[in-house]
Amino acid sequence: MKATIRRLNVGEADLYRRVRLESLRESPEAFASLYADAFLRTEESWSLQADASAEGGDRATFVILADEPIGVAALYRDDTRPEDGELMQVWIAPGHRGGDLAIGLMDTVFHWASLNGFQTIRAEVTHSNGRALRFYEKYGFERGNEGNTAIDRNPILIKRVERPRIAPKITPAPASS
Ligand SMILES: CC(C)(COP(=O)(O)OP(=O)(O)OC[C@H]1O[C@@H](n2cnc3c(N)ncnc32)[C@H](O)[C@@H]1OP(=O)(O)O)[C@@H](O)C(=O)NCCC(=O)NCCS
Repeated sequence: MKATIRRLNVGEADLYRRVRLESLRESPEAFASLYADAFLRTEESWSLQADASAEGGDRATFVILADEPIGVAALYRDDTRPEDGELMQVWIAPGHRGGDLAIGLMDTVFHWASLNGFQTIRAEVTHSNGRALRFYEKYGFERGNEGNTAIDRNPILIKRVERPRIAPKITPAPASS
């Protein structure tokens, strides 16, 4: 089945809960949130989070759907630097890694970000997460805190968002008399 990558819609909290819980269960080392805490969250809390990221231009959650949800990513605008966005929750189900889905997911995030005025996107990656680091660098992210030698600091990866391409205006030739 061909996978679809799209923004979460309002009213899809159950879908979001399902894919987010699976990501926390499957890749606990990749995320700061704990599966056990997320599992105990109320229905209302999932709905508030999911619906807030399903509309407007400040945050968005994207899902990859095949016959079941197989991937997720979220972009949140920074409160203090509104031109920056923080990429979070990025996950692809293990059986679907190594293809072009992760790139498709990033393309979707960056396209939305460019349409909504973001200039940079940053992601914090656990320093032991070699696969995610390699993926982000392959996609064009660069290390933002290379000079910081504190061993407990996770790498911050940053990539500029290209401005949306605007189709050139075509001026009609003057009618010949
Ligand atoms: C991060 C993630 C979305 C990337 O998607 P993916 O489909 O695995 O990405 P790709 O396979 O295109 O790229 C991964 C790269 O890392 C390489 N790689 C695999 N294991 C690696 C390891 N242990 N160390 C270093 N590189 C590794 C792969 O060979 C590939 O590089 P290549 O294309 O040059 O060969 C996915 O691996 C994932 O969901 N991981 C678990 C959750 C996670 O870590 N999320 C990120 C939170 S910041």
